[in-house]
Amino acid sequence: MTERHASRTALLVAAYRARASRRDDAIISDPWAAGLAGAEGEAIAAKVDAFLLERELWIAVRTAYLDEHVARWIRAHESDATKPTQVVVLGAGFDARAARFAKTGVRFFEVDQPATQQEKLAAVRKLAGYPASAATYVACDFEKDDFLDRLQSSGFDPAVAALVLWEGVTPYLHEPAIRSTLRRVATGCEPRTVLLFDHFTRSFVEGATRSGGDQQARDLVEELGERFVFGTNDPVPMLFEEGFRHVRSVSFDEACLSVTGTYRRERQFRFQRIVLASRTAPPRLAAPTRS
Ligand SMILES: C[S@@+](CC[C@H](N)C(=O)[O-])C[C@H]1O[C@@H](n2cnc3c(N)ncnc32)[C@H](O)[C@@H]1O
Repeated sequence: MTERHASRTALLVAAYRARASRRDDAIISDPWAAGLAGAEGEAIAAKVDAFLLERELWIAVRTAYLDEHVARWIRAHESDATKPTQVVVLGAGFDARAARFAKTGVRFFEVDQPATQQEKLAAVRKLAGYPASAATYVACDFEKDDFLDRLQSSGFDPAVAALVLWEGVTPYLHEPAIRSTLRRVATGCEPRTVLLFDHFTRSFVEGATRSGGDQQARDLVEELGERFVFGTNDPVPMLFEEGFRHVRSVSFDEACLSVTGTYRRERQFRFQRIVLASRTAPPRLAAPTRS
């Protein structure tokens, strides 16, 4: 979808991360999320609470799972401080990983549509202590721009392996934009680059799941000026066609079990998955484990 205003779903996600971080049994810690989400993010989250009770956990699981991979990626690269590494956050919204995982030798890039990015930067500048310079901000619309060209113009080095996160973004993009982004990661970046993204199933996006909350979720997203347009039951053919050769996919139920040790069928987490894809085999593919 071409952006007319800053993403409200990005504010919603930040509000849930803030709440999830405050819990006694927190599985994530994002000290910046509350300030970034602000009162507007909280108000949107309160609307969603009325029909999707597990949404906070769902966001927390996704963030915790990806955080584990970020931490592992940074650990794997810190043994050689002479070789800096790169973390790219595609569709970053109000993501604070650049601040949360800031480390010498790790360069963070945040890619998003200009209006969302400008709103995030304005919020960041008002947050005392937030290291705004921890990320390089790159404006891009995946529907029409080549994100890799834009990244390179901002200092991204395609000859250096990167961890690329694409969290909570694919549902909002049309398939050609998803394919071109996948293709550029698989064939334009250093071959050991690893991509992590989540996606809905087709039935969820098309409204064929039985939960009434799903329809209300779709309606609320449209009310916020955005729309779920993409879902797939099997991303492997597309990942293969766009150049990936190693794929691991986990359901949100599996990711939730790993990071919380709990499972409940009624959470309906089985309609969303998290995918790890790369061109060459990543050093370790095992799922993160609960400590
Ligand atoms: C639900 S938010 C997720 C934000 C962030 N990744 C997170 O998890 O907190 C969706 C994000 O995708 C971005 N997005 C949607 N369509 C886009 C497009 N065509 N080009 C670039 N970014 C897009 C929005 O601006 C927004 O930041």
